[in-house]
Amino acid sequence: MKNIVVLVSGGGTNLQALIDAEKRGEIKGGKITCVISSKEGVYALERASAAGIPSVVIPRKDFADSDAYSEAILAELKRQNAELVVLAGFMTILGECVTSAYPYRIINVHPALIPSFCGEGFYGLKVHKAALEYGVKVSGATIHFVNEKADAGAIILQGAVDVANDETPESLQRKIMENVEWKLLPKAVSLFCEDRITIKDGKAYVD
Ligand code: GAR
Repeated sequence: MKNIVVLVSGGGTNLQALIDAEKRGEIKGGKITCVISSKEGVYALERASAAGIPSVVIPRKDFADSDAYSEAILAELKRQNAELVVLAGFMTILGECVTSAYPYRIINVHPALIPSFCGEGFYGLKVHKAALEYGVKVSGATIHFVNEKADAGAIILQGAVDVANDETPESLQRKIMENVEWKLLPKAVSLFCEDRITIKDGKAYVD
């Protein structure tokens, strides 16, 4: 069983999808052993507690810069013997000390079809606002490995939804979460834990 550590910053619906998938026996070869939050008092922490998963809060605001914060996260990941790190609505970009310590072992969910609407500054509802402002007719979510560049690591899975004429950022966010994120994130985590993802020339392939 691989130790999975999930990093969160907010409501934690993706964490919940992982917890529910694990309960259904759908995370083969892995177990969520710890949740780390960058904010105190977020609902994701209640979800962890309700599922009996230990949690640690490492507030981003307590650290002067991203490097100092990343060092603290790295120390905790080591303490937890993390074998897979999942960023499930984690709103802080991790520095190179973390990404280089866990190559192809950090998975992120991004709420758009990378390479569109991604990179620094594109997170949460801002992503959906930008997609609607552009006028796209499909959007979706991407599950990818994390490297030293924001949202630029190897893509594992993607899924798309149609954008309706009367779509709002909130309705698009919900549609993408329900139809793509909550399904594909647990699936990618299970594929990783089953050693079914191979890397060739910097790209990820599912066997
Ligand atoms: C999700 O839509 C996730 O894809 C997005 O934030 C939301 C978190 O929701 N993540 C990012 O924008 C990261 N760049 P959750 O806390 O309910 O899982």
